[in-house]
Amino acid sequence: MHRQNSPLSHSNILDTAPMSSFNTWMNGESAIKQGSRRSMEYKRLIDYADKRLIGRMALYDGEAELIAKTVEIKGLHVEIGCLWGGTAILAMLAKNMNKVTGHVVSIDFMLGKFWNSEDPVIGKLPTPQDVYMNMIRFGLEGDISVLRCSSYPFPLAGHIKPVTALIDGDHREEGCRRDWESLKDRTKKYILFHDYDLYHPGVTGVVDEIVRADENWKEHAHINTLIVFERVE
Ligand SMILES: C[S@@+](CC[C@H](N)C(=O)[O-])C[C@H]1O[C@@H](n2cnc3c(N)ncnc32)[C@H](O)[C@@H]1O
Repeated sequence: MHRQNSPLSHSNILDTAPMSSFNTWMNGESAIKQGSRRSMEYKRLIDYADKRLIGRMALYDGEAELIAKTVEIKGLHVEIGCLWGGTAILAMLAKNMNKVTGHVVSIDFMLGKFWNSEDPVIGKLPTPQDVYMNMIRFGLEGDISVLRCSSYPFPLAGHIKPVTALIDGDHREEGCRRDWESLKDRTKKYILFHDYDLYHPGVTGVVDEIVRADENWKEHAHINTLIVFERVE
């Protein structure tokens, strides 16, 4: 990055730059440019998901990008808490954008609160049909499996091991702890928690008292109310 803007001669660059930056330099695109191009791609991806979705993505600033960056790796992503399907769609679009294979499983019992009255943020009642229609609108009906059931007992067989998982279902202490317990031993790389904030003491309590105390996991990233833990190798 620095080297490309410095007055070093061609041969100096060849002598000192690692091969990867040499290749980048040869391709005529600096790391800064690549980084900003990638940011633009995430932005476009998130705008696309947001505008096309029936309902809404229940996320705050910066969270969609962090989810996309964390789950864009090969393999299965599992989420607890589907609502309109926004985060599930975002996850699968991120994998597609990164040209990796994968699948998303989204678990939601589609009962209670939002489903009986309305999603208070947009004043609209979600239905299971809306969720399935969303998958079709994005052409992702074959890539995302929506399981209409409770996350407890956990519905996936023990040999199914996601690479990443998002916990965004029951925000009470007991429910969040159960979801963590269902996922912590089988998830290979990252576990994300949404609504890690003062308004959700159940989530905050589980993260601060249980997840942080688990030596197999360490904090990887945190933006707004989204916190990501990474398995310690
Ligand atoms: C905050 S919303 C999820 C939002 C979604 N991740 C998004 O941002 O697009 C929480 C959802 O979790 C579901 N839920 C809550 N407790 C659950 C449980 N024990 N099992 C399955 N789903 C649950 C609710 O029905 C609700 O739709």
